[in-house]
Amino acid sequence: MTKPSIVDVPTATDGPANAIDVTDSRTGQTHKLPITDGAIRAADLKKIKTADEDDPGLLSYDPAFLNTASCRSSITFIDGDKGILRYRGYPIEQLAESSSFLEVAWLLRKGELPNQQEYDQFVHDITYHTYVHENMRKFLEGFRYDAHPMAMLNSSVAALASFYPRSRNIFDERERDISIIRLLAKVPTIAAFCYRHLKGLPFVYPDNGLSYVDNFLSMVARMTEPRYEANPIFSRALEVLFILHADHEQNCSTSAVRAVGSSHVDPFSAMSAGIAALFGPLHGGANEQVLRMIEEIGHVKNVPQFIEGVKGGKGKLMGFGHRVYKSYDPRATIVKELADEVFKVVGVDRDLEIALELERIALSDDYFKSRKLYPNVDFYTGLIYRSMAFPTEFFTVLFAIARTAGWLSQWEEMLLDKEQKIARPRQVYTGYDERAYRRQIKL
Ligand code: CMC
Repeated sequence: MTKPSIVDVPTATDGPANAIDVTDSRTGQTHKLPITDGAIRAADLKKIKTADEDDPGLLSYDPAFLNTASCRSSITFIDGDKGILRYRGYPIEQLAESSSFLEVAWLLRKGELPNQQEYDQFVHDITYHTYVHENMRKFLEGFRYDAHPMAMLNSSVAALASFYPRSRNIFDERERDISIIRLLAKVPTIAAFCYRHLKGLPFVYPDNGLSYVDNFLSMVARMTEPRYEANPIFSRALEVLFILHADHEQNCSTSAVRAVGSSHVDPFSAMSAGIAALFGPLHGGANEQVLRMIEEIGHVKNVPQFIEGVKGGKGKLMGFGHRVYKSYDPRATIVKELADEVFKVVGVDRDLEIALELERIALSDDYFKSRKLYPNVDFYTGLIYRSMAFPTEFFTVLFAIARTAGWLSQWEEMLLDKEQKIARPRQVYTGYDERAYRRQIKL
């Protein structure tokens, strides 16, 4: 089995032929820059200088990292042109069909599928760390009745660092192990408590006799029954959605986790940075915005006018477009099939017609075709979540529960990567040159 190279360019061995000659028209000098795995090292550009001895050397300028690899990673492979997504080499379609979220969480971190003993121990460890300290409950109760659950989740995960000060020993493997177990186990509990707070309902404690997903659904939905029995279709649908969202290589939130983690802070603080990034409407927050957009459109007859508005610059078609996928998002294909399964149980979502019409028009319109804008994973997830009676502001929390697995695997990979250092980009300074201070106010 071959490992994917960091970018989708055939890997060649290092050597003189595997280099690029760059001729600097300012000096006439030619510089040989080695190419490894289809990439040059930006640091090699530094040696390209003018005759000026103050010249610090050439920088590469790449706002928003359009064409910069920030790390080497062996966790997730994406081919955006072909619509391929693989975790540790396994196609997402096969994992969604046959795996469980916890098996995928193990796979992402460890690189191989677990054997039975490893899996049973992992499930046991997670199951027995689902409870949170009672002070966390009081902390959550302190939020306003209408607090956004992503704001609650973000600050609660950061607060966990105060309960586990030893988690700061990030180079102790046992501390990393237990922190990762704690986060995978407790994030669903905190998420469910956020939901109950939002609804003004009493918190439901974890039930260790249930599976990961069923326990989460129990903490969300249980009322007076002694044991909550989740609808198996909902349970499997959520499991698949968790698998689909578990990792997605160097996206905005994962890059945030890696960057914050590179300061060697504890994993709870690093992960809260990821949750903050995920909250944004261009990233995980898009699933919430898709539904708000569909509700605003209101009726299928309003779709053409809405699309014209988008083309005219009035906002975006939420749930469309992706930095990497330029043909289709393989997760969106699976989500659409999953939606059909869920709709068979609860009936077709009242706004499915609007979503289908948006998709139909957008896929045949030159504006979207020429920009390679296709439905992404968030386009249909909102409709599934709404059918399962989750409130709109809770959708991104569901994404965060799943992405915990990817964030932590990427965080650990970053820590153990000898090439990584504190993330510290350069800038192209565009401000004033030195000037003298002259006060213009009375102090
Ligand atoms: N609706 C209308 N136009 C769009 C959209 C959209 N959803 N997305 C991109 N464009 C246009 C954009 O205006 C630009 O047009 P022009 O060339 O005329 O200036 C062109 O397409 C290229 O877009 P870009 O902004 O350079 O693309 P990007 O790679 O920087 O952004 C994106 C990617 C996902 C942030 C963007 O497509 C977007 O905002 N989509 C809507 C939000 C969304 O659904 N986000 C979820 C992403 S997938 C899950 C996740 O990451 O969590």
